[in-house]
Amino acid sequence: MTNREQWSSNLGFLAAAVGSAVGLGNMWRFSYLTAEKGGAAFVALYLFFTLAIGLPVMLAELTLGRGAKKSPILALTHFGGERWRSLGWLFVLTGFVILSYYSVIAGWTIRYAAEAIFLGVPLNPGSKFSEISQGSDAFIYHVFFMAIVMGIVVRGVSRGIERVSIVAMPLLFLFVCSIAIYAATLEGAGAGYLYYLNADFANAFAIDVVVSAAGQAFFSLSLGMGAIMTFASYLPPKSDLPRETVMIGGLDFGIAFLAGLMVFPIIFALGIQADVGESTLGALFVALPKAFAAMGGAGRVVAIFFFSALVVGALTSAISLLEVVVSAAVDGLNWSRKRSVWVAGTSIAFLGSFAAWNIEVLDLMDQVANNLLLLVGGLALSIFVGWSMRDPVSEVQIGSQISRPAMVVWHQLLRWAVPVVLLFVLWHSVPSTLVNVWNFLSDP
Ligand code: PHE
Repeated sequence: MTNREQWSSNLGFLAAAVGSAVGLGNMWRFSYLTAEKGGAAFVALYLFFTLAIGLPVMLAELTLGRGAKKSPILALTHFGGERWRSLGWLFVLTGFVILSYYSVIAGWTIRYAAEAIFLGVPLNPGSKFSEISQGSDAFIYHVFFMAIVMGIVVRGVSRGIERVSIVAMPLLFLFVCSIAIYAATLEGAGAGYLYYLNADFANAFAIDVVVSAAGQAFFSLSLGMGAIMTFASYLPPKSDLPRETVMIGGLDFGIAFLAGLMVFPIIFALGIQADVGESTLGALFVALPKAFAAMGGAGRVVAIFFFSALVVGALTSAISLLEVVVSAAVDGLNWSRKRSVWVAGTSIAFLGSFAAWNIEVLDLMDQVANNLLLLVGGLALSIFVGWSMRDPVSEVQIGSQISRPAMVVWHQLLRWAVPVVLLFVLWHSVPSTLVNVWNFLSDP
């Protein structure tokens, strides 16, 4: 494996990894969950899980990927032997499932962005959303989005993924910041900040709030399915992994937080809390356009910025999801990148067509991926690095100035804190997720 591709610069890696982390999860999913789960208390829990379990798992993924220089399936067998191979397969499966429905949502955002640019803000967002979110329209945009993702990934790590991310990430940041600043000038924005930032811990400890906060931390950081591990496999041997972890985690949380600073003031200033209160998957796609329409001329600009930010975020995340599957085929089957992208991309697009045709399937896939697959993946990974791998502490320290005791703390977190939290969460999320799947299958 001497001619493995590499990032052309450290900044390139960082942009791609942050690109993977920052996506629909930070803007669409984070905002709708925050609204649904009661505001600031959810945000606090999400931050807690990001720090306590997210960052340690991210560092574990980075360590395995960089050390093995192989795609996840082979990285796990490299460090853990044959019995860990199936975990690698779980990662690939998860990437497959997530990308298939993620791309449908990304398709909606392309549609909204394009219409905001060429036609203006929709006048009747409710019926608009039901028109475009399922059926042939959703399918066409889903396929279009997948084609773009495939076109980038086929160009390879530094010429495709890195180049796009290095332009996309600053752009996204610019969009989100400008909207957040504009939102602050709206009359009545204060109520939005209050809702978003003033924690009422009364219902923070409701089980479903805890479960969603943990799932969201994993999803948003792209953990539990080998995306970060795959990107780390293209790193040079001496990169400083603890530092990368802090940067990626910090930027990911920062952008989610900023997204809240743009969404909530707008929602409250325009008095559309009720639309979001009964939050579902589509809430933002219905409520925010209503707000944009009520803003007059400025609303169109805000809409263009907002949906373009979503498109850009979705694109760089989707790239990383596809790369997990592609790298598994390149390394494991010795396929060319082109062939791998073609086969993986079209099969994912096919699976996604079910989500495009029926939004309930999409919702179900999202639940299975987040409340089940990512958490099981993260649990198994922490058990592997915590209990089975030989001397992860020395491995992680390569290239880093960080002291050994700090890394021992990391190792202990992986041994105890991460598995305990994840088991607790899974204990509560698995039954309800399976019931939902069962109900759907018995009465679709
Ligand atoms: N982190 C991405 C987001 O927030 C989604 C994602 C999950 C990407 C898992 C890769 C792997 O949108």
